[in-house]
Amino acid sequence: LSKIEIKLSDIPEGKNMTFKWRGKPLFVRHRTEKEISAEADVNIAELRDPQHDKDRVINPSWVIVLGVCTHLGCVPIANAGDFGGYYCPCHGSHYDASGRIRKGPAPLNLEVPYYEFPDDETVVVG
Ligand code: FES
Repeated sequence: LSKIEIKLSDIPEGKNMTFKWRGKPLFVRHRTEKEISAEADVNIAELRDPQHDKDRVINPSWVIVLGVCTHLGCVPIANAGDFGGYYCPCHGSHYDASGRIRKGPAPLNLEVPYYEFPDDETVVVG
């Protein structure tokens, strides 16, 4: 199946859920207000792969990224690492709560797939 439909009300605020999409892990994260404001305030000049949070999300409450570390492809752990987003245990890459690489060997931010919100309750990825 090339598209996946996810019911957003199943994912409580502060939680990240992992789905399988096109053979890969897909992360859907319901961010807290604190995470939203912290990520919006990051100075992108300090980033290895400079991207503003607003260019990575459609709705700031929801971060939708592939759960594939951009170093060598391991699956990062949610809500871990020095930046509170994701931590890849394979070689120690730390991502923030926007999925941006902040520390460790990974070269790029976690990839944002194409997705849309057909209504307030649903996201369709793919
Ligand atoms: Fe994630 Fe190497 S695969 S840090």
